[in-house]
Amino acid sequence: MAPMLNPRIVFNEHLQSGLPIIGQHILLDTSHTIDIDNVPLNGGYLTKTLVLSPEPAMRERMRNPSIPSYTTTYILGAPLVAFAVVVVVKSEKESVKIGDYMYGQTPWEAYTIQPYTEGRVAFKPEEWAAGTFDMDSLALQVVPDPKEMYPLSKYTNIMGTPGLTAFVGMEGIIKGKEGETLYVSSGASGVGSLVIQLAKMKGMRVIASAGSDPKVEFMKTLGVDVPFNYNKESYESVLSKHAPIHAFWDNVGAEALDAALDASVAQGRFAICGTVGTDNVPFEQRYRLRNAYQIMKKRITLHGFIVPDLIPQFAEQFFQEIPVMVAQGKLQSKEVVIGEKWEDVPQAIVTMMSSGHKDTGKPVIIVSE
Ligand SMILES: NC(=O)c1ccc[n+]([C@@H]2O[C@H](COP(=O)([O-])OP(=O)(O)OC[C@H]3O[C@@H](n4cnc5c(N)ncnc54)[C@H](OP(=O)(O)O)[C@@H]3O)[C@@H](O)[C@H]2O)c1
Repeated sequence: MAPMLNPRIVFNEHLQSGLPIIGQHILLDTSHTIDIDNVPLNGGYLTKTLVLSPEPAMRERMRNPSIPSYTTTYILGAPLVAFAVVVVVKSEKESVKIGDYMYGQTPWEAYTIQPYTEGRVAFKPEEWAAGTFDMDSLALQVVPDPKEMYPLSKYTNIMGTPGLTAFVGMEGIIKGKEGETLYVSSGASGVGSLVIQLAKMKGMRVIASAGSDPKVEFMKTLGVDVPFNYNKESYESVLSKHAPIHAFWDNVGAEALDAALDASVAQGRFAICGTVGTDNVPFEQRYRLRNAYQIMKKRITLHGFIVPDLIPQFAEQFFQEIPVMVAQGKLQSKEVVIGEKWEDVPQAIVTMMSSGHKDTGKPVIIVSE
């Protein structure tokens, strides 16, 4: 077969604040080709990218590496590296077979010789701020062939990092008890929608917020007791009406966290998972908490975490329990296809970062069947 195009999404300029500009910070590069019959594998394997899903953590990786945060950063001129579902098309590695599906961090390009080198950070902890996590360590893993029981896109959502995040945080931090009340911000997100379902399975009463009426309807189907649209009702008004809450799963920060601090019981348990509410806002304009004093008065525990912190304790249990329940239809997740070609990917990243998607569901781009 003649060499074929190998499109990729390239990281071109660090992002200070606001949204990436296509052509400036990120761009589609169609100048590369690959000869899949003759490309040397050097003992590795060749993957074809199938499904991509832009995630909030990608913004963090676009910052200048001099700014401390929890992730390593992207390499200028190299492809973006993020989660994707791929299929193995050639292999010289014993443990990886042709036709295997894999999920994990991989360069966002059509074909990749694995393990990838371009875009990979040569991680030395001493060169990064304390607590920085080497994102490239979340390498591709073989996942079960869904055999038409569920679409592959579930691996970017309930059966991938969002699902794992929800599971480990619920087990390790929230530890919900029957009859308690949990509030979940961004409840229709990939993470939030599994948090809700796990809480309901434990017999908790759930309050959850999202940014549109269709998302509120989706949350109702997950069993939320008090769903609300934060664009129509303020966090403060809903939470004060339905207080107290025993636990809070926070994907948003800002007003949601402030209102939750006020609504918490004494010894409330807060899992601080994400900050999408302020990620686009320049630092000096960010919302400042008014109710921080409640942390001491109510002896609230705020537990900030990233999923790798809790993987050692709970990942095995996640892989034993969640895929079975998904296959049996006992757990729901929603994915929405927002693109079907590489040309759609840059805009999908920008849309994900702008203010969330109007569509309900985890946004995915199916770049190849
Ligand atoms: N700690 C970890 O290890 C970890 C791992 C994975 C994800 N996360 C966090 O979990 C959260 C959900 O992630 P996901 O991958 O499940 O996301 P997702 O399915 O892509 O959904 C993201 C949602 O965030 C909301 N959103 C976006 N911009 C917003 C803004 N400016 N203000 C308020 N809400 C906004 C939108 O929902 P609405 O329309 O309802 O606002 C959007 O649909 C994020 O905060 C993410 O950073 C953390």
